[in-house]
This record gives sequence, structure tokens and C-alpha cells, in this order.
Amino acid sequence: MNEFSYRNGHLHAESVALADIAREVGTPVYVYSAAAIEANYRRFADALSDMQASICYALKANSNLAVIRLLAELGAGADVVSEGELRRALAAGIPAEKIVFSGVGKTETEMAFALDVGIGQFNVESDPELDILSAIATNKGQTANIAIRVNPDVDALTHKKISTGRRENKFGIDISSAEDVFARAALLPGLQVRSIAVHIGSQLISLDPFAAAFTAVAGLVQRLRAAGIEIDHLDLGGGLGIVYRAEEAPDMASYAAVVRESVGNLGCKLTFEPGRAIVGRGGILLSSVIYRKESDTRKWLVVDAGMNDLIRPSLYEAFHAIRPVNEAASGGTHAVFDVVGPICETGDTFALDRELPVLGPKDLLAFDSAGAYGAVMASNYNSRPIVPEVLVRDDKWSVVRRRQTYDEMLAQDDIPAWL
Ligand code: LLP
Repeated sequence: MNEFSYRNGHLHAESVALADIAREVGTPVYVYSAAAIEANYRRFADALSDMQASICYALKANSNLAVIRLLAELGAGADVVSEGELRRALAAGIPAEKIVFSGVGKTETEMAFALDVGIGQFNVESDPELDILSAIATNKGQTANIAIRVNPDVDALTHKKISTGRRENKFGIDISSAEDVFARAALLPGLQVRSIAVHIGSQLISLDPFAAAFTAVAGLVQRLRAAGIEIDHLDLGGGLGIVYRAEEAPDMASYAAVVRESVGNLGCKLTFEPGRAIVGRGGILLSSVIYRKESDTRKWLVVDAGMNDLIRPSLYEAFHAIRPVNEAASGGTHAVFDVVGPICETGDTFALDRELPVLGPKDLLAFDSAGAYGAVMASNYNSRPIVPEVLVRDDKWSVVRRRQTYDEMLAQDDIPAWL
């Protein structure tokens, strides 16, 4: 996290002191570094530059319009999973033909909208979805480019809630019945079958599952070609892990080598859908201590961010490093704390038994590597306003999503006249 480092004892995002942002915007607030996001994107793109690769950034990781615009300017396409994400991609300036639509539950309305705006590819995940898309496209006199997502039954060796490539998971079609499905799709009107898609999970630390899945896909390409079905594109999904703690995140060059070795000789154009690898380490969540609280057996730091702002620790037992914004605190006494939010459930815990400086009320702290699956998963739980987001570039910074006001939050509800 070079873009988030101490300068003269104060944690900065690039050249901006986080304390300045906290003073003006308040906490909690997400802060993103444009330089970090750009560097991650370039690293990803450069490693794959010798292959015919398109990078469709997975919006689900962070769909702030400013973040998408930043990536659009670098040439990224988008992987979207809802009409909302599709609208965000378009609004941020990603050309429709660079957009891939994934997801197990696309509705007819969503598919019709995607056809109307002319997206590049649908990643179809089931037999019934094939029929519906065929019918809608035919009705509109259009042809939809499709990939069929296969489920290779590979264990991604990651958290069970973010593993997607086992047979029992809801994603894709079983690779063992894939030939039949491709053959049927090839005969359906309104569809142009050109690609196989695969995505086996997120936050993969080992490259072996990627190798297993991509090799299985390569085998399917050969079998389909033998059966007269031409496949000239592959969509290899996202999933590359990042460093949250001590895990060795796989480096880009080794990931690219796995791709080259498994599918490099097929002559297919490749699409990738990275999310976390692009934005994860490009953001932090800035929060303030409300209270330091102690019992006979435990010490707590109660902070003003809650599980509604950053749900990853609560939902996936995820680890986020925590740093004091004022480095001097690190030189002082330390103690072992549970870091918890203000929400009324025990799951609202960011860290257990974490050794930290003895911070006190109003002290600022940063949750590292919160750029992916942070703000996008925020909610109004406990009627807390949606957390704001700030984007920094060099010494410039802007609020790229303002904090929701209480009035806005309450205005969404209606009390019926009959009540
Ligand atoms: N493509 C597809 C079809 C996906 O389902 C996903 C993520 C991606 C690409 C991007 O994966 P990435 O490169 O970011 O690993 N909320 C969870 C992660 C959920 C990932 C869902 N799918 C978390 O906070 O860890």
C-alpha cells in the first residue's frame, strides 16, 4: 500500500493527509487512490499484453462512477451482473461493446435493456436462460453474442461463500454436459455462440485451481471443435487474490504463465474479469474511535464504522490490517483489542485480539485494502446513512459519493394513507 503511507508521521493517501479528509468529510469514509488503482490495472494488463486479452473490470468490486471512469480511461471494459451495474458502466463512459453481462439470474427486462444498448457479450449460465435470451433477441431481430459459463467442479481453495466453481455451486453449467448445451445453443435463433466462460471464485491465493479450471476449458474447446462448434473466445473470469495479511498473493507474471500454458495455444481471444486485483489495495476505510472500553478480561475499541459500512470481516471472517492515522501512536504503548463497530449485534466485529496502539476517543484509524467489496456492500442497517467515498490523485481529492443525509434516507419510505 505505497500510496497509503506515512509522511511526517501522518498517514496519507498519495499526497493528501487522511486527517484532512476526516476533518472535512467526517468519518467513516472510504478513500481511494487513483495512482494505486491505475498501477494495479496496468500491472494486470501488462502481464497479459502478449496475449489477445480484453480486461473487463468486474464492477461489483467497486462501482463508484469515478472509479469506473478512471478505468475506462485506461481502456478497460466492464463485467456487469445487473442492469444497475450496466447503467453505471455506460454512465462512466465504458463503450457498450466492451461490456460483458454475467450472472445466474438475469431477468428478461435486464436482457432486453442490454440488447437495446448493444453490449458485447452475455455470459449465459443455464439452459432456460439460453431459451429466454434467444426469444428476446429474435423478437428484436438481433443476434446476441454469448459465452456459456461452465462449472468445472474445481475447488478454488478460498472462503466457501466466495467459491463458485464446485459442482454444488449455483454457477454455470456442469462441464460434463457442456457439449450438449453448446450444440443446442448453436441451433437456437438469435444467438451467436462464440465463447466459453469460467470463474471459479474470488480471493484465490493458489494458482493451481486456475490451472485446473483453464485446462478443463481447453479440453472442452478441443471437444467442441471436433464436434464442429467453433470457439474463438474464452472468458477466464476474475478471482486473483490480493495480500490482506501474510498470504502470498500470486504475482501477475505467474498468473499469466498459467494462462499461457493452459489456453495459450488455442488461438482464442481472451477476456478477463478482475475486480479485487484492480481496486482492493487501492482503498482504505477511514474511521474514528468513539470509545475505548475495558472489562476484566477484554479491551475494545468501539469505532464509528460498522458492519453496514464494511461487511467483509463479519461475513467472511476477512482480515483487514488496521493502522493508526497518527504514526506516533505506534511508538506508544500497545495492547490487545477487539475492534468493534456501533451496530447492535456481536457480528459487528472487525478484529479480535488485535495488537494495536492504545488509541482513544477521536483518534483516527484506517482499515487497509478496503477498495474492493467495501462501499459496494454498504447498507443502511441500523438506519445508518450510506458511507461516503473520496478519490485522491496526487494532492487533489474529491468526494465521489457524498454521505447520504438523514432526510434522504427517511424520504425513501412511505406511510400509507390507510394506516
Ligand atoms: N467475474 C465473476 C463472474 C464473478 O462472480 C466475480 C466475483 C468476478 C468476476 C470478480 O472477482 P474478483 O476478481 O474480484 O475476485 N464480496 C466478496 C467477493 C465476491 C466475489 C463475487 N464474484 C468479498 O468481499 O470477498
